[in-house]
Amino acid sequence: MTDVHVVAVCGSLRAESRTRLALERVLEAARAAGASTELLDLREYELPIFDADRDRADAGDAERLTDRLGEADAIVLGSPTYHGSYSSPLKTALDYSGFDEFRGKTVGLLAVSGGAFPVAALEHMRSVCRALNAWVIPHEAAVANANAAFEDGAFVDPELEERVATLGRRAVQYATIEPDPDSFESDQNVGAEGK
Ligand SMILES: Cc1cc2nc3c(=O)[nH]c(=O)nc-3n(C[C@H](O)[C@H](O)[C@H](O)COP(=O)(O)O)c2cc1C
Repeated sequence: MTDVHVVAVCGSLRAESRTRLALERVLEAARAAGASTELLDLREYELPIFDADRDRADAGDAERLTDRLGEADAIVLGSPTYHGSYSSPLKTALDYSGFDEFRGKTVGLLAVSGGAFPVAALEHMRSVCRALNAWVIPHEAAVANANAAFEDGAFVDPELEERVATLGRRAVQYATIEPDPDSFESDQNVGAEGK
C-alpha cells in the first residue's frame, strides 16, 4: 500500500456511461499500484448550475464535492465528448472547485467519444488544469468510437485497455511530483482563489 489517494470524477450522468466504465478501469489499476481510490459519480451530487452570486450554503452538494477533491493526492477527470469539448456536468463540478482543490495537484485526463476524435475534450480539460495550476500527467487516455469499445462492460481492445490502465498507474506514480512554479495563467485566474 502507498499513502496515495486517487479520486476520479465522471462527467457523464448516463446510466450506461462508457466514461464511468473507463474510469473504473483507471481506478482498478491505481488500486493495484497500492493507492486508495474513490469514483465521484456526479449523479450522487446535487449541483445547481454554477452561479457566482449564490452562497455556497445554497449550492447543494458543492461543499461535499470539493471536500472529496481536496482529499485527493491525484485527480482523474473523465468526460464524454459533447460537441467537441468536455461535458457540462464536469464543467459545473470544476466551476465549484478552484486552487484549493487543484493547485499543485497531479491530474490525469480521460475522454470518451462516440466518433473518432476525443482529443479536443482532452485539450480543453488540460487548459482548465493549467488555469488552476495543476500538474497534468503527460500520458492521456482517449476512448474513441465508444459504443464499439466495450462488450459486456469490458474493453474489446486490450491495447486500449492498457492505455487506460496506465493512466491509473501514472496517477499513483506521479501523485507526489513537485510541480513547476506558478504559470502566468494561474496568476490571472482571480476567481479560483478561496473557492
Ligand atoms: C450532447 C452530446 C454531444 C455529443 N457530441 C459529440 C461530439 O462532438 N463528438 C463525438 O465524437 N461524440 C459526441 N457525442 C457522443 C458521446 O461522446 C458518446 O455517446 C459517449 O459515449 C458519451 O459518453 P458516456 O458513454 O460516458 O455517456 C455527443 C453526445 C451527446 C449526448
